[in-house]
Amino acid sequence: MSVKRQFPRWSSVKPMLGWSWPTLQRRDRGLERALTVSDLRDLSAKRVPRSVFDYVEGGALQELSIQRAKDAFKRVEFRPRVLTGVAHVDLSTTILGKPTSMPIIFAPTGYSRMMHYRGEYAVAASAAKNDVIYSLSTMGTVSPEDLVGATPEGRKWFQLYLWQNRDQSRDFIQQAKRAGFEALVLTVDTPVSGQRLRDTRNGLTVPPKITMKTFLNMATKPKWWANMLTTPPLEFAAMRGYDRSLFELAQLIFDPTVTMKDIPWLQKEWGGPLIVKGVQTVEDALALKKLGVQGIVLSNHGGRQMDRGTVPLEILPEVRAAVGKTMEIYIDGSVLNGGDVLAAVALGANAALIGRPYLYGLMAAGEAGVDRMSDIFRLEMDNTMKLLGVGRMSDLGPEHVRLRSH
Ligand SMILES: Cc1cc2nc3c(=O)[nH]c(=O)nc-3n(C[C@H](O)[C@H](O)[C@H](O)COP(=O)(O)O)c2cc1C
Repeated sequence: MSVKRQFPRWSSVKPMLGWSWPTLQRRDRGLERALTVSDLRDLSAKRVPRSVFDYVEGGALQELSIQRAKDAFKRVEFRPRVLTGVAHVDLSTTILGKPTSMPIIFAPTGYSRMMHYRGEYAVAASAAKNDVIYSLSTMGTVSPEDLVGATPEGRKWFQLYLWQNRDQSRDFIQQAKRAGFEALVLTVDTPVSGQRLRDTRNGLTVPPKITMKTFLNMATKPKWWANMLTTPPLEFAAMRGYDRSLFELAQLIFDPTVTMKDIPWLQKEWGGPLIVKGVQTVEDALALKKLGVQGIVLSNHGGRQMDRGTVPLEILPEVRAAVGKTMEIYIDGSVLNGGDVLAAVALGANAALIGRPYLYGLMAAGEAGVDRMSDIFRLEMDNTMKLLGVGRMSDLGPEHVRLRSH
């Protein structure tokens, strides 16, 4: 039977129109097109100098830790339950006894104003808006006080590198206390700095030097350079007043003589929740539990310190079984999408820390880029939870995940 033809009607054509009239509002089309963290990563590579991108992206030596962490997340297989009637998902959870909008914590990362001129200000503002915890690094380019002044709302942790020199350590602790930070994150996987070959090859210095190579690069990244040259110089803001060059300070930050015996001193001095970041074995997790720390981060520093470290997702079930339920466990390293976060929670983590994902957002488009990253994670988690048939974080368990052998 032949189909009768008719004249196209405006009412049926209009909804099919794939374009809209131009407006005067400036839109970031690159950002609008970013649907995944990987898209944000690609966009960021176009917007900052190569040496800055590599500083964020790279890891130590052969970068095997990074690759292995990614591989571990690729081995995750979900076991969805069907006909569960889950129409609405609540992504919120509790971290250190207080609510947070989703089981994601922004990891401490140094030098953020090198990635984007608003650096830590932009990331903390976005974290507060999205109701997730932001951790400020000792190597931050904004001081604890200035950060809280700019964004008083939102939960904030301060990451500390402990020095044997008690006066210097006390100074950092006091700054975090005065600024009202909620918890201290002690990073322990840095007795010395990792060997990051990309940075050596790129001749990366902080602040970046204007060499012939970087001068030529300026032409391709004019916006980044203009922002860098017209805003206050980069500094380790928590170390203002230490009369040394940035290079010398970076050397000073790590102290290989610190031991487990220093932890009780720190607990006494700080007097609040303490989280130890950079744990890679069951033995150390148990030792820290005995010392009464509130949480640990199973982490190899995003593969930036020891290459071939343990893979956090793989040791998570064993560590959770050993320490029991009371101590909080977070993991990090190559958590690149909502499914990765859910796998970590299912296998026993209270939350996942993310570093590079928000830095990709930051390098791509400042605060709006970090917002976009949170939206991406939220959407992916919400969708995956519905497909899994699980409505609440507390209902997610090991029964929902299997790690394939390859
Ligand atoms: C550019 C960059 C700087 C970092 N700086 C610090 C730091 O100052 N202190 C710290 O404890 N961890 C630091 N880290 C490690 C992160 O806190 C976190 O462990 C790691 O980024 C997690 O891996 P991911 O980036 O794949 O999410 C840094 C990571 C990156 C990428």
